[in-house]
This record gives sequence, structure tokens and C-alpha cells, in this order.
Amino acid sequence: MKALHTQLSFELKRFKASKESIETLFIGGGTPSTVAPELYTPIFELLKPYMQKEAEITTEANPNSATRTWLKGMKDIGVNRVSFGVQSFDENKLKALNRAHTPKQAKDAVMVAKELGFEHLSIDLIYNYQGDTKTLLLNDIEQAFKLPIDHISAYELTIEDGTKFSTTPEVRQEDENLAFFVSEEIEKRGFNAYEISNFGKYQSKHNKGYWELKNYIGAGSGAVGFLKDRRFYPNTDIEAYINNPLHITEELLSSDELLTEKIFLGLRSIIGLEKSMLTEEMQQRIEILCQEKKLKCDNKHYYNNNFFLSDELALFLLG
Ligand SMILES: C[S@@+](CC[C@H](N)C(=O)[O-])C[C@H]1O[C@@H](n2cnc3c(N)ncnc32)[C@H](O)[C@@H]1O
Repeated sequence: MKALHTQLSFELKRFKASKESIETLFIGGGTPSTVAPELYTPIFELLKPYMQKEAEITTEANPNSATRTWLKGMKDIGVNRVSFGVQSFDENKLKALNRAHTPKQAKDAVMVAKELGFEHLSIDLIYNYQGDTKTLLLNDIEQAFKLPIDHISAYELTIEDGTKFSTTPEVRQEDENLAFFVSEEIEKRGFNAYEISNFGKYQSKHNKGYWELKNYIGAGSGAVGFLKDRRFYPNTDIEAYINNPLHITEELLSSDELLTEKIFLGLRSIIGLEKSMLTEEMQQRIEILCQEKKLKCDNKHYYNNNFFLSDELALFLLG
């Protein structure tokens, strides 16, 4: 936490943060609920002058470690949104995904957070695990909608190199139909898709910030920061990070790379694309997509209405 404080102090200067300029804060990447709220206090004190009054402040939490005391402590220091890593309400699926909580713990944690008065609550679900069927996923969605949440993130299982699952890639199934099924069932119940994996009555400002390529400080081992045309990578080895939190690798992005990112992110979400940022050739190609009704178009903007086609549409546009 001291190393985090050191890096944040440095980043506030590098980003030339001014009074009340920070719109959102997200505590995540790992298990913030294993860290006592008091340990966050110095960090909140440091950031306070730079935070907008109405800032969205999210913490991720694991249902098994987010106790009432922990949640209350986080609420007291200013957190107003909790995103629970629920993944499923099916006991066997949770075990297979190596999750430490039970379906009951997940439901209880959300109810306690509601009782404590957090403004926004979200849960994460995972689909396309090998045991997933429409029946199982429908049950996950129905259980989710019984809870007082205003947001769901539904992620397709991905197998990451270096994780336990990389030795058993067969745990992931490829079933496009389930992706459509999950998003339709969530939308049917009144949560709008505002990105390929995100649905809500409330749209997280923090999430949207990434897709709009706003600047963000990334503090902590394994975090990533972004400023205009540069990415910052603090040390991913936690011991090394603690020893030197200011050892940060930089990557410079070319204007082509930035445009490619804007296109991919804009088409995966409700952010869309602005005509003025596209090259002449892209403007010609995108007209074809408008004529084919693949995008919603006005004179200045293009919006995708099927996020599952976003990669194909982006590749077509990039030529
Ligand atoms: C990306 S964050 C979630 C941010 C949150 N949804 C929000 O809107 O504030 C962490 C989540 O990533 C998802 N995740 C972790 N590992 C995954 C994997 N291998 N495949 C797919 N999703 C994964 C889990 O659902 C986990 O709870």
C-alpha cells in the first residue's frame, strides 16, 4: 500500500492532475476485499483533492472475503459502487472455476451491500465454460435479477497463458449461440448492452472512460496507465514493484495504432465512431456498412448495433 501511495503521488504529477479532475476511481485487479479498509485511507486522503464531488468510486470484491465489516469500511471511506466477482450461481460451476465462494455467499454479499446503502451494485458472470447449457445460464441470469443490482458484466471464458486453465483448454467451449442467448436474456430483463460484455440500467462511467480512450492512471503491480499517446506499465512482479514502484515501462503509440484502438473500442460499445477521425478510405468503406445496415449512421457518427460483429466490422474498416 505504501508503494501504491508512492506511485500515485508520482502519477498525479505526471498526469498534471488538477483539483477535482478525477471522474472515477476503480479498485480492482485481484481481490481488493482481502485488504482492510483502513489501509486504503492514506490513498483516499491523497486522492481526495483531485476527485470530483460526484466521482464514481468502484471496488471489486470477492463474495467470500467481502464481509459486512469490510463493505461498511469501504462505504465509509467513499466507495459508492461494488462489483462482485460472482461468475455463476451454480455450485458445481463455481467449483470448476476454482472459486472460493458458494452461491449463497454471493447472494448474501450483494444483499449486505444493498443494506449498507451503496449506490450501484454489479455482478460478473462467466459463460461458455464447458458445462454451460441454456438451462444453467438462464438460472444464473434469473438468480442475478432477483438481486438489487443495476449492472451485469457477462464475460466469455478466456484461457490465459500461464494460468491453471491453460493446461486444460477444453474447459472453454465455443458456442456463439450461448453468447447471443446470454445477452438477449439480460437485455430482455431491462439491462441495456452498452458494450459487448456489459449491461445495465446504470452504465459505469469508469468502463466507458476506457472505451473513449480517456486518460487514466494505472497504479499497482500489473496495472496499465494511459496518457494521450503513451501507455505505462508498472512492474508486474509484486516484490519488484514494492521495491521500486517508480520503475515503469513506457510504450509510445503511433497515430495509426491509436486510431485502430478507437475503432475496435468504439465498435464494441455504444461509444461508436466519429466520421472526422477516419481516413478517406475508411470513410468510403464505412459507407458500405451503412448501406448494408450493419451500422447506424448519421452525418457525423457511426454506431454498431450488434457488438458480437465488432471485430469483423473493425477488420473490414481497417482494410
Ligand atoms: C474485468 S474485472 C470486472 C469489472 C467489472 N465488471 C465492472 O464493470 O466494474 C474482473 C472479472 O473478470 C472476469 N474474468 C476473470 N478471469 C476470466 C477469464 N479467464 N475469462 C473470462 N472472464 C474472466 C471475472 O468475471 C472477474 O470477476
